[in-house]
Amino acid sequence: MILKELSINGLIAKIPVIQGGMGVGISLSSLAGAVAGAGGVGIISAAQPGYNWEGFASNPLKTNLEALAHHIKKAKEIAKGGIIGVNIMCAASNYAEYVKCCIENKADLIVSGAGLPINLPELVKNSAIKIAPIVSSVKAANILLSAWDKRYGKTADMVVVEGPKAGGH
Ligand SMILES: Cc1cc2nc3c(=O)[nH]c(=O)nc-3n(C[C@H](O)[C@H](O)[C@H](O)COP(=O)(O)O)c2cc1C
Repeated sequence: MILKELSINGLIAKIPVIQGGMGVGISLSSLAGAVAGAGGVGIISAAQPGYNWEGFASNPLKTNLEALAHHIKKAKEIAKGGIIGVNIMCAASNYAEYVKCCIENKADLIVSGAGLPINLPELVKNSAIKIAPIVSSVKAANILLSAWDKRYGKTADMVVVEGPKAGGH
């Protein structure tokens, strides 16, 4: 079968498959790295990535950010140039700190659902990271993208559309 490559505003995946972010502890560096290394887009879930790390019980935020940084770097190593993204749910506490961690550790893409990521363009400004909201309707996409355009003069690099049959949030 011949598959057409996928372009996400300049990021090229040879295989047009995006592996969805799966918390808690399901899509971390080994899965995302393997998918990206095979030519698809690997997504690490930022939902409690440090759940099995020492220090999680006493300081979950610090541990999660350390674990996320570790998994982004490790996935990039495994993927050898493949595309690594991070799924951050809008409902997450400390959303902005997870975004900052993705930028600092050179993730390629942020995919964000479970709410509308209204201020994401502001959080990623001056970085090369791509951004992709997850929406469940055209109405939601229109509301979000016109807000991004009005406030920041920015649009999405990709939009993920999830209908009622998706196992998403
Ligand atoms: C075990 C599991 C965990 C998931 N965790 C997340 C998550 O942390 N954040 C998120 O936005 N979506 C999450 N999802 C949704 C997936 O990323 C994906 O969007 C969804 O499963 C739709 O794809 P599918 O129809 O191929 O299953 C999860 C799905 C599964 C099955």
